[in-house]
Amino acid sequence: MPRPGCAWTIWSRTFSSLRADGASCQPGPSPTARAVRLDNLRARDGQALAALLEAVPADPPYDVAVAPDDPAGPLLREAGFEPYATTVTMSRAIEGLPERDTPEGVRLLTYDNSMAARYEEAEFDSLDGLAVFAAMGRPTGYGEGAGFGDFTVAMRGERIIGFCFTQVPEGIIWWLGVVPDERRHGIARMLVSSAARATRVAGGTHLLADTEDTPAARAFFRALRFREGTTRHLLLRR
Ligand SMILES: CC(C)(COP(=O)(O)OP(=O)(O)OC[C@H]1O[C@@H](n2cnc3c(N)ncnc32)[C@H](O)[C@@H]1OP(=O)(O)O)[C@@H](O)C(=O)NCCC(=O)NCCS
Repeated sequence: MPRPGCAWTIWSRTFSSLRADGASCQPGPSPTARAVRLDNLRARDGQALAALLEAVPADPPYDVAVAPDDPAGPLLREAGFEPYATTVTMSRAIEGLPERDTPEGVRLLTYDNSMAARYEEAEFDSLDGLAVFAAMGRPTGYGEGAGFGDFTVAMRGERIIGFCFTQVPEGIIWWLGVVPDERRHGIARMLVSSAARATRVAGGTHLLADTEDTPAARAFFRALRFREGTTRHLLLRR
């Protein structure tokens, strides 16, 4: 079992199935909390769920992502899981994504772990207030993330003002943020264009973000013509 809650495990997620009588899931590191994610959880009833939780080969906290109408939701709440965030999946084809000019005075660099201190400052400024950032705890682990996927940072001078970590060739945008005083200048748009190029070079065709459901994130991805997909509630048991 990889170390839970550490972002560096996200892009090498390997899940093996876990079964109990009347219940199953796939445990692995959570991408949104310092926890073990129980993916695709199914349980016949509370007793089956309790047996499954007993069988998880790692200590809590555990987290689960469920659709609003998933029958597992009420069972999980009864078992002490509490909601901590809501996410929405946004996706689009890379083809047709408009390329934009780089905002003045900004350059893109491939992330290097020696930038960790500056990165963690930018990460905090950008993501403070998001429930998933709070649930990840600090450090999130992305500061050690060089070389695992496409990890690009936007720089103004020596300051990191935005970042985007994308799993390629799948095109999954895991971690995207821009510091508040640099927003609405096209920095995130430029980072997503860069993620699209890296994904295409690696053989991918689409971009997908499972983003915390906030007005800014929805407005941003809608502006880039991403399609809205599934909404899911994230539940955590400490
Ligand atoms: C979402 C976020 C990354 C956008 O970064 P940004 O650099 O400000 O985005 P851009 O300037 O490239 O915006 C492109 C377009 O998206 C739309 N948009 C972006 N933020 C918006 C907002 N808060 N409200 C309404 N529309 C918005 C606009 O149409 C904008 O174009 P315009 O400024 O010409 O009108 C930034 O607000 C952020 O870091 N939020 C916190 C972290 C987060 O939610 N990350 C996404 C989840 S992975």
